Amino acid sequence: MTARQSPDRPQEQRVYEHHDYEHPYPPADLEAEYPFEEMKFVSRSPEVMAERAQSFFDLMDARRSPRMFSPEPVPLELIELAVAAASTAPSGAHKQPWRFVVTGDPDVKKAIRAAAEEEERVNYLDNRMNQEWQQALAPLGTDHHKEFLEVAPWLVVLFEERYEVTAEGERRKNYYVKESTGIAAGMFITALHNMGLATLTHTPSPMNFLRTVLGRPENERPFVLFPVGYPLPGVKVPTLGRKSLEEVMVTVTKPH
Ligand SMILES: Cc1cc2nc3c(=O)[nH]c(=O)nc-3n(C[C@H](O)[C@H](O)[C@H](O)COP(=O)(O)O)c2cc1C
Repeated sequence: MTARQSPDRPQEQRVYEHHDYEHPYPPADLEAEYPFEEMKFVSRSPEVMAERAQSFFDLMDARRSPRMFSPEPVPLELIELAVAAASTAPSGAHKQPWRFVVTGDPDVKKAIRAAAEEEERVNYLDNRMNQEWQQALAPLGTDHHKEFLEVAPWLVVLFEERYEVTAEGERRKNYYVKESTGIAAGMFITALHNMGLATLTHTPSPMNFLRTVLGRPENERPFVLFPVGYPLPGVKVPTLGRKSLEEVMVTVTKPH
């Protein structure tokens, strides 16, 4: 029997079946070569877990993506904390293949808006987006105007790092770059929402112009452009339902 200490969890509930692993991790020879430490984990009572799960769901269910931001300034420290939280994301081979490029400079924001609107003009007005795509976007009413890119106090461009370049200039492979960067993106959005800021997941594709405007190296590819700030008071968002749990979750109870 093993027990974890936690003020949240009464002693009698802290006991679970010990399991003898046939192949314990880490094997002794691995631990002799690389450092390991005991995982810190806060054990909670079922009641506390249920309460936290419900309140986290309520918090996340209230997240929306505004398309008009307020010009109200936001301290850079808050953006830094959101990036730090996002950067705790799991990543393939722990390569953390992401780079958050942050700007609040009016001229940079202006240049990004101009280039984004140029690409979006071709998407929306010259039909680079096919009919099906345009129909899917119809309820959102998005168009080529991207004024918010100049109004929001911060633009955070998340780049995926396709490969690493060592100090000696050698290339090192990164693994599961898109999956890892996508998870970091989700955690960034969550961190902002949790602290009381808003963002829009914006992808004015193709987004290569972001590399040029922001002077980023060849190994970085733009993933998402996040305007960050407060929503303009009274801003409207499309009335959207979300899929029910039954639509997004399947429980399998026996092997097929
Ligand atoms: C990968 C991705 C790309 C998106 N690109 C755009 C975009 O370019 N422009 C835009 O207005 N919204 C964009 N969105 C926002 C979605 O339209 C929005 O998340 C969706 O309509 C649900 O609304 P909600 O975020 O308010 O729940 C994007 C979202 C994701 C996840």
